[in-house]
Amino acid sequence: MSREKWGTRTGFILAAVGSAIGLGNIWRFPYVAYKNGGGAFMIPYLFAILTTGVFFVAFEFIMGKKYRGSAPLTYFRINKKLEFVGWWQFLIAFVIMTYYAVILAWAMDYIKYSATLAWGEGTKAFFYSSFLHVSPGASVGHFGNIVWQILIPLLIVWLITFGTVFNGIKNGIEIMNKVALPMLIVLFVIFVIRAVTLPGSISGLNAFFEPTWSSLKQPSVWISAYSQIFYSLSLGMGIMITYSSYLPQKEDTTNNAFITAFSNSGFELLSGIGIFAALGFMAQKSGVSIKDLAAGGIGLAFVVIPQIINQLPMPQFFGILFFLCLLIAGVTSLVSLVEVCISAICDKFEWSRKKTVLIVGIVATVVSVFYSTNSGVYLLDVVDNFVNSFAILPGAVVEIISVLWIFKRFNILRDEANRYSQIRLGKLWKISLGILTPIVLIVILITSLIANIQTVYGGYSSSFVAAFGWSMVIALPILALLISRIPWKNAEKAKIIPDGEDG
Ligand code: PHE
Repeated sequence: MSREKWGTRTGFILAAVGSAIGLGNIWRFPYVAYKNGGGAFMIPYLFAILTTGVFFVAFEFIMGKKYRGSAPLTYFRINKKLEFVGWWQFLIAFVIMTYYAVILAWAMDYIKYSATLAWGEGTKAFFYSSFLHVSPGASVGHFGNIVWQILIPLLIVWLITFGTVFNGIKNGIEIMNKVALPMLIVLFVIFVIRAVTLPGSISGLNAFFEPTWSSLKQPSVWISAYSQIFYSLSLGMGIMITYSSYLPQKEDTTNNAFITAFSNSGFELLSGIGIFAALGFMAQKSGVSIKDLAAGGIGLAFVVIPQIINQLPMPQFFGILFFLCLLIAGVTSLVSLVEVCISAICDKFEWSRKKTVLIVGIVATVVSVFYSTNSGVYLLDVVDNFVNSFAILPGAVVEIISVLWIFKRFNILRDEANRYSQIRLGKLWKISLGILTPIVLIVILITSLIANIQTVYGGYSSSFVAAFGWSMVIALPILALLISRIPWKNAEKAKIIPDGEDG
């Protein structure tokens, strides 16, 4: 049986862009850019897109298309010693999806709260106390109780996500992205137009775009640009490999990589404009400076934004709009993480998609329940920090060095890409992806290593961080090695790359 295929090229691109556009675009990029030089940040940012972003996406696209397998199968076909890299990325995808879904559950709750502005004036107290019911501190083995208002939307998020993946590539993931992505863009543009037409928005935009040129001299600014691009394009998690394994042979992956990277950045820029225009309005209204209002992540989405919504005309409408955007942007990313896991298991054990979705669905749901307890937000924070710094990054370094340098696939992959594309990949690709990118990734890795050794992350107890941070990231590659020792259900089939001309 030949591998399933995307129905159309647009379907594939929308799915790849859908994965890239996520929470990181909406709540991470604006703040990262602002903190790292504002307008001047565009220089390292563009540099990172052109030297790493596009080239890395192209690399994962070509690998998936050429070897036509899930992440483990793709690496296995490059060399059987590399199979564990695929399982490492599989485990990373699994870990991330179990907490990513929880944030989407919060967003779903906040859509409901928008209808009555349930958060009141004290949005921070509401979020942490009334909504999350956080316990005063985090400790190992003491999670407290399940918070039902998180668990119920969480189940709905899982139902939508696994329901989508259950229906396969063409009839599930492709259709969902074809509906969700245009909808997201329309809704988000309405939000941005509202934001830029508010009084005071100009001061927010000035704060966002005002270039601090001296920041270009700081290495940390360049590091932030690379980290943002890397996370935002969903790299190093097997996602782009998996998605492109469903492409027909003749596809121009280089071109697709450019489209994916630039669409993602376009959305990031739009988000920076919308968020900072809204912050400018809030600064004028409240008399608090933009510097003190500006935030990223959970604090931006669930504390500052509700404050801003309170001040708007038609607050209910814009509340629903914002959190719906967050939810849609997140679901299309979540689906891509889930597909990494589903395709890997289907390939390895030859289970049917439906059976795999059912089993993975149940396991992921059970694990994610831990994040909907009184200590859930602490757990989420620690796992997120460690998996991003100490699993994705080293995994990606291993990915590049092993495929390009140890097993020398550079020429094969380049020829495969160039055969179907007018955009030529050559020396620049080799130097950027093969040399510059791993160096930058290693620098980022060492910087975070030093930071996390000097101080215990987030001010949590060291046993909590040791258990769910360090132990977790160390366990992943070990577990991956063990899984790669299990034989393929059909070893002969795994070795042969199927013909990609059909379908
Ligand atoms: N690329 C997504 C974003 O920008 C983040 C993400 C990372 C999503 C990993 C899925 C997997 O938010």
